[in-house]
Amino acid sequence: MYKRLFPIALAVTVGGGYSLTAFSQVKPQTLVKQRQAAMTLQGKYFYPLLNMVRGRIPYDANAAVRNAAYLDALSKMPWDGFAPNTKDAKSGALPAVYTDTVKFKENQDRLQSEVAKLVAVSKGGSEPAIKAQIEAVDKACGSCHETFRERQ
Ligand code: HEC
Repeated sequence: MYKRLFPIALAVTVGGGYSLTAFSQVKPQTLVKQRQAAMTLQGKYFYPLLNMVRGRIPYDANAAVRNAAYLDALSKMPWDGFAPNTKDAKSGALPAVYTDTVKFKENQDRLQSEVAKLVAVSKGGSEPAIKAQIEAVDKACGSCHETFRERQ
């Protein structure tokens, strides 16, 4: 019995230790690349929704459901890439990311909560309600970029 449990306990301990130190072991430039990739994918799945709202492409309720679900996961991914050891790495992040961490976190939370609302309303909500929520997500992207991302 104990013999069988031991390797599991060990695996849990090692796994826990790894997750605590994982990001300090990854090269800053790799973290930057990964967080930019997560942002790029958010763009891939969000901008078509915005284009529907703007009337640039036809409205497609199924695409709203699918892309909202992808964004639900993607909107959680970039943030651990803004680790302190990336402070001096070349990127589009403004220094405020590392100094105004409370506000940066608030902006992350706002995005995640607006995306969660989009997931909910995309499932059977009316077209105007879905479009309004796409606008709300757009504002959450934009207001963070305003303060924390270099002007393009
Ligand atoms: C909490 C702040 C924050 C939110 C919210 C946010 N972004 Fe970003 N975004 C950033 C920062 C900071 C960068 C620059 C990152 C870098 O260069 O390392 C960035 C960069 C990007 C980039 C460029 C990636 C690259 O390859 O350089 C895209 C595209 C992007 N964001 C799209 C989005 C979209 C779409 C949303 C909303 C669905 C969003 N972002 C929400 C902070 C945010």
